[in-house]
Amino acid sequence: MAILVTGGCGYIGSHTCIELLDAGYEIVVIDNYYNSKPEALRRVKELSGKEFPFYECDIRDAEGLRRVFSAHKIDAVIHFAGLKAVGESVQKPLTYYDNNVAGTVVLCQVMAEMGCKRIIFSSSATVYGTGNPSPLKEDMPTGAVTNPYGRTKFMIEGILSDLCVSDPEWSAVLLRYFNPIGAHESGRIGEDPNGIPNNLMPYISQVAIGKLPKLSIFGDDYDTPDGTGVRDYIHVVDLARGHVKAVGYALAHTGAEPINLGTGIGYSVLDLVNAFKAANGVDVPYTIAPRRSGDVATCYSDPAKAAALLGWKAEKNVEDMCRDTWRWQSQNPKGYDE
Ligand code: NAD
Ligand code: UFG
Repeated sequence: MAILVTGGCGYIGSHTCIELLDAGYEIVVIDNYYNSKPEALRRVKELSGKEFPFYECDIRDAEGLRRVFSAHKIDAVIHFAGLKAVGESVQKPLTYYDNNVAGTVVLCQVMAEMGCKRIIFSSSATVYGTGNPSPLKEDMPTGAVTNPYGRTKFMIEGILSDLCVSDPEWSAVLLRYFNPIGAHESGRIGEDPNGIPNNLMPYISQVAIGKLPKLSIFGDDYDTPDGTGVRDYIHVVDLARGHVKAVGYALAHTGAEPINLGTGIGYSVLDLVNAFKAANGVDVPYTIAPRRSGDVATCYSDPAKAAALLGWKAEKNVEDMCRDTWRWQSQNPKGYDE
């Protein structure tokens, strides 16, 4: 029995590979290295003490996928492969629809052909859009998204749900991530963004290490306790463990099931900056800047469904997230480029 991990060389994928190996699963990994480096999987092997097959393969390459499925008995697929930069998706919508949506269609076609009908998909809280109050629950309406990236997630959720209706043998777990941050506690793997980070936590850690001069806080006049945006930050290792539980669920159930992976707790931008400073004894200079277009004031999960269906809940706190991010950042100031 093996689990195919698409995009397994990336930030969340690499952490999930470790947790799958620790839980005793065999894994097969594919990635096209668009946003990752071979060093990440080398370190996964080092940390886990286990070997596993890797293929440099694009999810849009049906022949390449057939070769992987023919060489291994794949029981389920965890599908991380995708592009994720919100701003870039506005500039290059066709690239995003091709890679994320068309890529997922090719992957599912090959899966069906090869008799593997269980998929765990990386969706996002972004599908809840702008109209719902937090805490966000899985039965709330989705689709009022603000950018092409978010629309790819909404569309893929629809495609996988349609597939499950068309063929009752399919199982699709649609994991709606909130804001993954942090790193493996060894400090050996973590998030290695290209160029200037878009997301808050990698920006904070690059300011703390002196790579960037100061953080811009996008808006301090939201309707939140301190005026800055509130999010549900979740430790990437907790998130990875949620995938291990989701594999067990997908092997035992059919149908499409959206499930939030979050902590249920909201922290503001200033909360996170202050937690980072306190956990690590470092300074994080910042300035208040205008709001970023497309941002909502508050976004946090109701995590009850994940507890009920998967038996999973987040265990790490914001101090763990800040400490582990800093260990990764300070031990690997150039990311995977040593
Ligand atoms: P990441 O960029 O680190 O990992 C994605 C991996 O997929 C990369 O290694 C990349 O090279 C690979 N990839 C991209 N297109 C591919 C293709 N066509 N064929 C093969 N491999 C391909 O991103 P991540 O943060 O680990 O995110 C993983 C998934 O989770 C993505 O689908 C992302 O949209 C989703 N997600 C991420 C977040 C977040 O904040 N990180 C939040 C919600 C959802
Ligand atoms: N922020 C700043 N300064 C920065 C970066 C972010 O103040 O330099 C603020 C944002 O305005 C927001 C908060 O920090 O209030 C979090 O921003 P992130 O960019 O880290 O995360 P988002 O919640 O905007 O986006 C994340 C994922 C997206 C996903 C979205 C909704 O990165 O992929 O959640 O689920 F679509």
